[in-house]
Amino acid sequence: MGTVFYPDIMDCLPSVFAVGNEYQIFIPFKKPAVVWAEIGGNAYYDDSNGILRSNCHVHRIHVPMSVLDKAMQYTVIFRVMTDRKPYFPESEDERRFTLAFRPVRKEAINIYLLSDAHNLEKEPVAAGRYFDDNIDLLVLNGDIPNHSGDVQNFNSVYRIAAGITKGECPVVFSRGNHDTRGIHAEEFGMYTPTQNGRTYYTFKVGSLWGMILDCGEDKPDTHPEYGNTICFHHFRLQETQFIKDVIANADSEYNAVGVKNRVVICHIPFTYVHKPPFDIEQELYAEWASLLKEHIKPQLLLFGHNHCCRVCPVGGEMDHLGQPCAAVIAGCPSKAVKWGRRTYSGAALVLRENCAEIVFNNSNGEIIAKHTINFN
Ligand SMILES: [Fe+2]
Repeated sequence: MGTVFYPDIMDCLPSVFAVGNEYQIFIPFKKPAVVWAEIGGNAYYDDSNGILRSNCHVHRIHVPMSVLDKAMQYTVIFRVMTDRKPYFPESEDERRFTLAFRPVRKEAINIYLLSDAHNLEKEPVAAGRYFDDNIDLLVLNGDIPNHSGDVQNFNSVYRIAAGITKGECPVVFSRGNHDTRGIHAEEFGMYTPTQNGRTYYTFKVGSLWGMILDCGEDKPDTHPEYGNTICFHHFRLQETQFIKDVIANADSEYNAVGVKNRVVICHIPFTYVHKPPFDIEQELYAEWASLLKEHIKPQLLLFGHNHCCRVCPVGGEMDHLGQPCAAVIAGCPSKAVKWGRRTYSGAALVLRENCAEIVFNNSNGEIIAKHTINFN
């Protein structure tokens, strides 16, 4: 596998996240800098109402998917700010570097699924390099950092995405329940890909349509662990309306021309009723499952959270609330530490029009299990 070099002012390579019909390119910097990208002859700035941002450690550039898919490369341009005084601010010379980009175009899509890295970085990257440079899409399915109590924790998201994709293919991202904890949880949308600040949205890459759902926390809002700081029941009700809105727009969403695969991605396996006090929202989650089953008809549910790697068939022991299709739970950091390292397991998934071939592997290069799920 080839190494991609990047300017040492960056913490890691960029990551290209798919949100709606745009890509959001995230680039973490070690020093204040103003940043933009040149794609297909046009400039796309990281700006705030015309102000090039530098008072931030991660930069985000919004680009229409169609533009980057056509150009298949992007040039990141930046100037390190030396003194951003109100008048005559000073910065270093402009620097630039160019990266190749592979949009999802193939019939069989190579997807790597991981969740629950909980601040591990090297191990999830080692497992996630299963496809080497032939990966088409990375799914980061929640709890990548351990909590949102420190903005530096968000670097795990960018480092894992960059380590696996090298900034050369798309990533999709969902929020996990640990992401909702800590003083910076309320700024989550500044540091991670969201749609107008919302952590649930749809996306389409190539022939794959997907919906990101977000259960928020895993216990009742009144649980003392949260100290009266959350309102996730209200949030989930808004999300029910979002699912209904997506269904009302089916022709431009999952029924759009060219869509061959439909997946729903959510950190918490909401069709499984966990033990108390985690047995929340059964009626509401049953409604989500029923809306999916009746209208959207996904081929796969992609989950994390339970720290395991398994396939959950419809009607199986984990199907408590009416799965609309088979589920894959992927993302498991080992409890045991061996030679100072933990082992991380995730899932490599080859998605075809009529089936998914799944390989659960780990960061030691071992294959744990293989499954095939046929779509009806
Ligand atoms: Fe979780």
